[in-house]
Amino acid sequence: MTIREIIGKLNLDKNLSEPAIKWIEGNNILCQEYSRQLLKNKLNKISRLDNIKKLAIVLYTLPFTYKAYLEKGIDENIFWDTMSDIKIWCKNDFERFNTLGLENINWIKKHLTLKIFRLKRLQFEFSRFMILPHAKFKDILKCPFRLGEKCITLHIPQGEKLDNELCKQSLSMANEFFAKYYPDYKYRCYTVITWLLNPDFKSVLNEDSNIVKFGKMFDLLGYVPDSDMNERRVFGYDKDRKNYNPKNALQLYTLSRIQNKKPLYSYNGYRAK
Ligand SMILES: CC(C)(COP(=O)(O)OP(=O)(O)OC[C@H]1O[C@@H](n2cnc3c(N)ncnc32)[C@H](O)[C@@H]1OP(=O)(O)O)[C@@H](O)C(=O)NCCC(=O)NCCS
Repeated sequence: MTIREIIGKLNLDKNLSEPAIKWIEGNNILCQEYSRQLLKNKLNKISRLDNIKKLAIVLYTLPFTYKAYLEKGIDENIFWDTMSDIKIWCKNDFERFNTLGLENINWIKKHLTLKIFRLKRLQFEFSRFMILPHAKFKDILKCPFRLGEKCITLHIPQGEKLDNELCKQSLSMANEFFAKYYPDYKYRCYTVITWLLNPDFKSVLNEDSNIVKFGKMFDLLGYVPDSDMNERRVFGYDKDRKNYNPKNALQLYTLSRIQNKKPLYSYNGYRAK
């Protein structure tokens, strides 16, 4: 699979892919070196490059990752679903920094090194059971899992509704996926760190809403103030609050917490396998 074929499948905009390809074509040896560094998790030099060059290195590396998927026998669709996050993050980084390309290479590196997989609606990452630093706790004594034990952390990519049936399918697919392709990776639970587990949402949103149903899938462990993340996820990257125009209960709730200087949190949840 060539880089151009991969770019075609990823459906990247031309204003991203063309300058990236041009840079690859003029800097093949350098790309090889940076790609090697990326796969070894050495990001010092790469992180100083501009976002088009960072994207170029990611694109350059994709055929190697594709080969690694095929060698493990992992379904090709999982590769494309996992790599669809590259386009999402180019969009986020453009909204955030107003520059073309990919800033968040630290995140996409995990996709390239087979540390994270998208299985239908959710992403799954090899991880260790942890407590958020400086967290306040909820029912910690009830938690049957040990700090540092192997687990799988899940993530919720933007761009689609959080349909509960799809989430359940994702979780059962994850059970099968890790048992089949990583049989030596023994884990007992899934964890998640997200603003979506806010217990207030049970009263703010409809009982049938996707977010409330998602929250019910996890036990809460701890929470830390994370107002910026909440604000960004609910109002986007435009930090000018004068432009906020709340359209639903979630935005009204978030804005009222901000205006009343009450913190919003990220929550640490877990769920037995
Ligand atoms: C997770 C996500 C897909 C949930 O969206 P959803 O499936 O629409 O959730 P719900 O159906 O429960 O939403 C209930 C209401 O809140 C609104 N809503 C949900 N997420 C919203 C968001 N991020 N910003 C603004 N409004 C949102 C919905 O439009 C809906 O409004 P309505 O009642 O007027 O129709 C969505 O929040 C999202 O894309 N978030 C970005 C990704 C993310 O936050 N990941 C977690 C990172 S830690």
